[in-house]
Amino acid sequence: MAEQSLDADLCATDCERCPALVESRSRIVNGVGPTDADLVFVGEAPGATEDEEGEPFVGRSGSVLDDALRDAGLARSDVRITNCVKCRPPDNRDPTAEELDNCRGYLAEELARLDPELVVTLGKVPSQHLLGRSVAVTKEAGEVFDTRVGDANVRLLVCLHPAATLYDRSQADAFEETIRRAADLAGLADGDGSGNGQSRLGDY
Ligand code: URA
Repeated sequence: MAEQSLDADLCATDCERCPALVESRSRIVNGVGPTDADLVFVGEAPGATEDEEGEPFVGRSGSVLDDALRDAGLARSDVRITNCVKCRPPDNRDPTAEELDNCRGYLAEELARLDPELVVTLGKVPSQHLLGRSVAVTKEAGEVFDTRVGDANVRLLVCLHPAATLYDRSQADAFEETIRRAADLAGLADGDGSGNGQSRLGDY
């Protein structure tokens, strides 16, 4: 199989590894945001709106994420937002283990080249994929773990998926608190989004 590699903007430009996804996607939905971002959010896979617009987290979940970022003093453009799987699965089903595996090289390269202070996994699928174990997201949300993704050493903060707050409003406070914690840990929480450059992850 051809070697996976991203372009200068950390984008996959062509991939046909997953026949079902090649069939269901309109386009590859690559990560967005600075290629030197300190804070990276990783979701599961694009949904219908993301597939249409070619950008991760631009549907209802994206609005929840944008609001929480704003509440934490950050703009969407301050952070990188990407997914484990870059193509929309049919009928919004979860990506299969094989699809996650097929796309892993892209995410690993993206994270290795970004070398961020902190990676925030949004929901169960990305948390389990990057930690390589079963994760109880509601219990572990807000906890920091060290892991390895390909060649990248990653400091990871487990977070609820923003969609969880749409189904259960009681999850909203926990979600927003974890996003504020992410901004703080990455040294970006000075209220104007510019950051004080002081990561607090030395504490770990
Ligand atoms: N949910 C995800 O996990 N990723 C997206 O890009 C959108 C919704």
